[in-house]
Amino acid sequence: MKIEEINALLEDIDLNGQPPSEEPARQYYYLKKCRSYVEAEEKKLGRKLTACVTTFGCQMNARDSEKLSGILEQAGYVLTDSEEADFDIYNTCTVRDNADQRVYGRLGHLNSLKKKNPHMKVALCGCMMQEPGTIEKIRKSYRFVDLVFGTHNIFKFAELLASVFEQKAMIVDIWEGTDKIVEDLPVERKYPFKSGINIMFGCNNFCSYCIVPYVRGRERSRSPKDIIREIEALAADGVVEIMLLGQNVNSYGKNLEEPMSFAGLLREVEKIEGIERIRFMTSHPKDLSDELIEVMASSKKICRHLHLPLQSGSTRILQAMNRRYTKEQYLALVEKIRAAIPDIALTTDIIVGFPGETPEDVEETIDVIKKVRFDNAFTFIYSKRTGTPAAAMENQVSEEVVKEGFDKVLRTVQETAREQVKRLSGLTLEALVEEVNEQDPSLVTGRLSNNTLVHFPGDPSLIGKIVSVYLKEYKGFYFLGEMAGGVPECQKA
Ligand code: SAH
Ligand code: SF4
Ligand code: F3S
Repeated sequence: MKIEEINALLEDIDLNGQPPSEEPARQYYYLKKCRSYVEAEEKKLGRKLTACVTTFGCQMNARDSEKLSGILEQAGYVLTDSEEADFDIYNTCTVRDNADQRVYGRLGHLNSLKKKNPHMKVALCGCMMQEPGTIEKIRKSYRFVDLVFGTHNIFKFAELLASVFEQKAMIVDIWEGTDKIVEDLPVERKYPFKSGINIMFGCNNFCSYCIVPYVRGRERSRSPKDIIREIEALAADGVVEIMLLGQNVNSYGKNLEEPMSFAGLLREVEKIEGIERIRFMTSHPKDLSDELIEVMASSKKICRHLHLPLQSGSTRILQAMNRRYTKEQYLALVEKIRAAIPDIALTTDIIVGFPGETPEDVEETIDVIKKVRFDNAFTFIYSKRTGTPAAAMENQVSEEVVKEGFDKVLRTVQETAREQVKRLSGLTLEALVEEVNEQDPSLVTGRLSNNTLVHFPGDPSLIGKIVSVYLKEYKGFYFLGEMAGGVPECQKA
């Protein structure tokens, strides 16, 4: 929604009246309230208020942060990357224990900032807050926190923010679950030219190691109409690349009143004018359909990249993980995809150290890595998540054995990925320019359709544009390149 539309909407709201009970109208009522509180505080301090949103998790978590930023900005805050802000919010992740530890570590720092600036407000939200035990710990050891909420009621952020201004005690609002999807709230995108879009929430798969279904709830798909409307608005606002987000996009639409497949949704999205590139995340191998492969193969817009989490190459471990495919099925699927889309880049996630995993199982994983030759793989050490079936398994693997297997898997991934990505050397491909290179400001960084990065000489005016780049030199996971034909006249500043 455009700022003028939001302002017009807020103008008609009477704060002396009762808050509406329906959504999102109720949140707009509270947003207006927040504006008046922020304005009052601005007057007191003689300056604008600042807010900092920190994302700890996956793309879905990052998209939620854009929703939080949208509310904060509309409430009158100036967004900043510095934690020395008037409002700090941590959007947490709990997929592995180290994600939790990072949050607790950084909370100590926020406490010292708040001691210096007692008017500062601190909020926590996201997946970690849905875990039993977290709230108790925060109430006991992190009493300076002003607001805690979870994943199911993030749409209520404006209402919760208003109550932070109204009361001193810590506000805690955690829902067990929800079947609600609230549409049409403000969003502040991180990048003007690309955006994530939630197409579904939650997960029904219950992989035995994974906490996500417990903290994100059951699978719910947004209606195609709402998704298309959102993407059309993004395209009108200058977005050229979109990423459709869900924990298992391949099961999109199954619980809709009028069921629609993910491939069917992609066909609709493809028609939207102005959108040049379509990505999606994540695909569960068990649900990847022939229809999807067909749609990808014939599409001009769907990027040549598929993230297809393997987790393990051992059928025995896959079964214990409740992944519902075998090593052979995974390999056959890869073959089918490569036959239909030869230039596709495949990336994956791998877990090492799942309970009961032996060095022979790790060898099976390594065998799959060598056979598939992933363009990239995220390798994780298994992390025990309380409440999941795997946490109760007796045969947890010792740290040394895990470390050995992990190093071996990582080495294999790096070797095969290097060879795999190198094959593009000497080609001229299209890249979407994302930013000025951090190390060398004379370079810009672009992303190829297959998700590989290329750095090449160029100026900031290229950001958000799709240009042809000659891939001159392979540097291990990324390329140095040159814009083919120099900077086109129309794109010169
Ligand atoms: N929905 C996605 C994954 C979401 S979590 C999918 O199914 O592919 C992202 C990755 O974190 C997973 O693919 C898995 O490799 C890893 N992961 C999840 N739980 C984990 C755990 N308990 N320990 C280690 N890695 C884990
Ligand atoms: Fe977790 Fe499995 Fe769901 Fe992915 S599909 S979020 S790994 S339970
Ligand atoms: Fe983490 Fe939640 Fe995403 S646990 S990986 S932020 S869904």
